[in-house]
Amino acid sequence: MDDFDLIKLANEAKEKAYAPYSKFKVGAAILTKEGKVFTGCNIENASFGSTNCAERTALFKAVSEGYRNFSKIAIVADSEDFTYPCGICRQVIAEFGTDIEVIVANKKLEYKVHQLYDLLPYAFSKKDIERR
Ligand code: THU
Repeated sequence: MDDFDLIKLANEAKEKAYAPYSKFKVGAAILTKEGKVFTGCNIENASFGSTNCAERTALFKAVSEGYRNFSKIAIVADSEDFTYPCGICRQVIAEFGTDIEVIVANKKLEYKVHQLYDLLPYAFSKKDIERR
């Protein structure tokens, strides 16, 4: 699956966003190494801290279905700017490896490609716990 196909799936998932507070809709699509795609949207909550970002929704769907190896994630928001994953999402994705392509797209579906290890350098990981 190429980058733009993944962006289109993330853009469709964005329409399912539950964002009555921020009105900022985000969609994500994560591609597993087996070639399966899981999509997600942001899901807000009246208790704001309980909000789940689109990236984590997509990743949690994948992991809960038995998929843990990822090659790319695309993120699309209703914004002129590129929307980058928040710190929590960077850490959550990094749990499954920092060698993953992060594609950020704006509402015109223009996009940029990064590597997670560049967005989260010196990541804390399970290796740090094991090496104590
Ligand atoms: N949000 C995401 O879903 N992903 C991001 O990468 C950035 C932020 C959501 C969380 C919240 O519902 C809304 O955007 C505003 O912060």
